[in-house]
Amino acid sequence: MEKIFSIYLFCLLFLLKCNMKKFISLALLVAAFTCSVKAQETSITIHTRQGSNKIYKELYGQFAEHLGSCIYGGLWVGPYSNIPNTNGYRNDVLQALKELKVPVLRWPGGCFADEYHWMDGIGPRNKRPKMQNNNWGGTIEDNSFGTNEFLNLCEILGAEPYISGNVGSGSVEELAKWVEYMTSDGDTPMANLRRKYGREKSWNVKFLGVGNESWGCGGNMRPEYYSDLFRRYSTYCRNYDKHRLYKIASGASDYDYNWTKVLMKNVGNRMDGLSLHYYTVKDWSDHKGSATHFDNQEYYWTIGKCLQIEDVIKKHCAIMDQTDPQKKIGLLVDEWGTWWDEEPGTIKGHLYQQNSMRDAMVAALTLNIFQRHTDRIRMANIAQVVNVLQSMILTDTIGTGHMVLTPTYYVFKMYRGFQDATYLPMDVTTDSMNVEGGHMFKMVNGKIPDVSVSAARKKDGSFIISLANTSLDKAQATKIILDGTKIKTVNGDILTSDKINDYNDFNNPDKVKEKVFKDAKIKKNVLNIKIPAKSIIVLNLNS
Ligand code: AHR
Repeated sequence: MEKIFSIYLFCLLFLLKCNMKKFISLALLVAAFTCSVKAQETSITIHTRQGSNKIYKELYGQFAEHLGSCIYGGLWVGPYSNIPNTNGYRNDVLQALKELKVPVLRWPGGCFADEYHWMDGIGPRNKRPKMQNNNWGGTIEDNSFGTNEFLNLCEILGAEPYISGNVGSGSVEELAKWVEYMTSDGDTPMANLRRKYGREKSWNVKFLGVGNESWGCGGNMRPEYYSDLFRRYSTYCRNYDKHRLYKIASGASDYDYNWTKVLMKNVGNRMDGLSLHYYTVKDWSDHKGSATHFDNQEYYWTIGKCLQIEDVIKKHCAIMDQTDPQKKIGLLVDEWGTWWDEEPGTIKGHLYQQNSMRDAMVAALTLNIFQRHTDRIRMANIAQVVNVLQSMILTDTIGTGHMVLTPTYYVFKMYRGFQDATYLPMDVTTDSMNVEGGHMFKMVNGKIPDVSVSAARKKDGSFIISLANTSLDKAQATKIILDGTKIKTVNGDILTSDKINDYNDFNNPDKVKEKVFKDAKIKKNVLNIKIPAKSIIVLNLNS
């Protein structure tokens, strides 16, 4: 476009200087050139008869850490709060999360997990000891949200709990007893303790993390040492009665391929899954950039960094393939998302950040990537569910009881249909743009594709397609062919906004919100859509 515009500008200047005849011939030339410049077009062929990998519903998992106001003030206000609640859980947040169909919720951390002693969080709330949250601002917590409160919340939401166990500062006995408390139905000491505290039946707990970031806040260990600890701790995490634990080893961060290598060698199939953490973050200094004030270059940088996760996943998977070619051990990206500067005026260490249309774009692109790798990726948990990092929900914790849903929330809402669907392979032709790297950022091929796509077949035989146009200024004329299938109906939703840094807040809660998308047209079994710049569309198709 810029090229064409400058040529026309040149013509105008020319007109001022030359006679009309010369101008007309030049204008004709320009017209011919214009016609030869292709409109922005993307073409997609989805192979609807192929595809065998299930997109595990757990890919759309959430993470709730004792950090800032994620738990206290976010999910939990206690039964005596003025904020409307059900047994202590905020009603507005419960309702919003129910709509999201949260498949799995990871708790209590994060770094917090390796300093958490679960026994301090059970029994009568007024008798529970306080604790200092050393990882996150030194906040004093009253332990009123503990194991019972968390597992009951999961039941209300219909989400699988994912417990992150303390290896860094806890004992083998402590973790073993926690598993017994949660899952034993026998006449065992911990099951009886649970009964004493009001819960007769065990909870359904399957996912168990054995430590978190054990290379860092979880104990600063070397992979060889952690491997041995994993073997030891996990031995005593028993399968009680009908329960079968899925044991997850604390995995690498980003580019630490050696960690994965050592764990695959030294732990191997003693673990069911291995985690991976990847944040879309500039660096770990205090200047990560504002969540809402950024320029176009920073936007494209963010998209590039976000897309780089695919290369990181491929490399970890390749290492896992060497000793586990049958892909029995899952890769769990149990922390991911954007990490910006904390909002001015908020408590340091509470990681409270706003969430703009840029974050929504990161969410959509990342989910599309995860969906492509479900032969190995078993779960993913965005960090975090309320009030922390790239959250779904922001609450006003001062007592007014307001809540806003973030643009990222709407992406998760629009993607619900992908849960447990079958991933479909496809061919995509789309333009891409080159982006400047910078020292921190060696981007994969240095290219950002204009359109990111993912597609799946749902259990009822219908299809779901997600499309994200990363460009800030170019709409994409897109043709979609469903190879081997006649499309009968199409409907969908779109998430977009005037500016990429638009966000929702308590004064303007619905600025960025999903809307019904009406511009999909079926012509001769080809689906034609124009994807507006900086937009995310999810379509449902029936054949
Ligand atoms: O999500 C915030 C923190 O990021 C987690 O506590 C930790 O595991 C990671 O470093």
